[in-house]
Amino acid sequence: MTIWIPELSENGPRYRALAHAIERAIDDGELAPGDKLPPQRRLADALGVTVGTVTRAYALVEQSGRVSAQVGSGTYVHRQEAVSAFADVIGMSHDGLVDLGMSLPPPHPERQATLGRLMSEISAEPATLEQTINYPLDDTMAVHRQHYADWLGQQGLTVDPKELLITQGGMNGIALALSALLSPNDRLAAEALSYPGVISAARQQSLKMVAVPFDDEGIDVAALAIRHERTPFRALYVMPEHHNPTTVQLSEKRREALVALARERDFWLIEDGVMHLPQKARGTPLYQLAPERTIFLFSVAKILGGGLRSGIMRAPVGLLEQLRISLRNQCWAPPALMAEIAGRWLASNDADRLLSWQFEELEARQAMVREALGDFDITMRRGGFYAWLVLPGEHRAARLVETLEQEGVRVAPAEAFCVGSTAAPQAIRICLSAAPDRAALSQALNIIVSALSRNAPPGWQTV
Ligand SMILES: Cc1ncc(COP(=O)(O)O)c(C=O)c1O
Repeated sequence: MTIWIPELSENGPRYRALAHAIERAIDDGELAPGDKLPPQRRLADALGVTVGTVTRAYALVEQSGRVSAQVGSGTYVHRQEAVSAFADVIGMSHDGLVDLGMSLPPPHPERQATLGRLMSEISAEPATLEQTINYPLDDTMAVHRQHYADWLGQQGLTVDPKELLITQGGMNGIALALSALLSPNDRLAAEALSYPGVISAARQQSLKMVAVPFDDEGIDVAALAIRHERTPFRALYVMPEHHNPTTVQLSEKRREALVALARERDFWLIEDGVMHLPQKARGTPLYQLAPERTIFLFSVAKILGGGLRSGIMRAPVGLLEQLRISLRNQCWAPPALMAEIAGRWLASNDADRLLSWQFEELEARQAMVREALGDFDITMRRGGFYAWLVLPGEHRAARLVETLEQEGVRVAPAEAFCVGSTAAPQAIRICLSAAPDRAALSQALNIIVSALSRNAPPGWQTV
């Protein structure tokens, strides 16, 4: 009997190349639901690798949720029901609506599998359970800071664990930074379109926001200098790698100019790195250019999952005590259990594997967007979640968002990101990563193209 033999074209460890080849074969339909994977020894012989290599590869594919091992029988590709049940669990297509409004990583069943494994691992360790049930102390969190520092270091984001504070995610980092650096009525500058979370947090802390123009090289530093002269601000919140919502990246020249201005005028930089891009798609982090005045924020929300509520903030050591006090006042400390899970996840290969899959998936989804919307004014960034679409002709974002929602697709209008009295451009953010799968994305894109191709509705008629 002949057996299915994959081609191992990928470099790196053989078990990983084999796991990826099997995953690809399943995703492409070469291996169908219910198919049995070849017996391990036979596949090992055919590929000229050890049985151990095949066992590890099969275990990795099982963790991804695509196959399951049945004792004494073999390993089988999951049947379709498992996949659609998963789409239901992630809750994005219950009512037929494809929700591309939220900033979510592409769904993958491996998240559930890994979370389950880590929870059972922890539940079998009395010392860890004891540590996570008690109030976390700063030194008990040292191990988590180290996990974060190690992982970020591998990603080219070198940080000293002594400069880190574990947070409950990026939003918590933003709130802590604002409360530590600014007092009510102080001014916070930001790009004229910015992350809605920072706009809301600033409002709640009674801060005044200063909207700064930006172009396709990022924030306009000359305009920022003029704004500072007119209305001095204490801090600037900025997303240098992947601006939410427009995907713009701050050029290296502007980064240097920005840091020079911050030093000259003495303001703080709050650098939001929550939208994590591959190293080759990133520039020099601001916290490396101006460590003495930059708070860098990172969270696992866009890689592992937002429900873990775990992240870090990196700050100059002199500011850490103030940030710790703010954190203590809010919640004493982030839950140690969540930091433990996120830390272990980052320390294992699983996070990296998930991230590589995610980048590949995003590339494929971006190609679909280019194919469908290539004739429109659309921007995306490699490894990013969003497509920013400036609407053609007389289309109005608010109207289009409403129409799309009625037709089964949710997207975010530019209006949601406006800082202060910034006039909203006629544009929408499409979060292409949030679709439960490529088929749903394709369906949503068809609906968007069809809505854009129709004539824009007549404008207001008044006398
Ligand atoms: C730019 C940016 N910063 C921060 C956050 C919040 O991160 P977290 O979910 O970790 O609180 C988000 C969430 O979408 C974001 O897009």
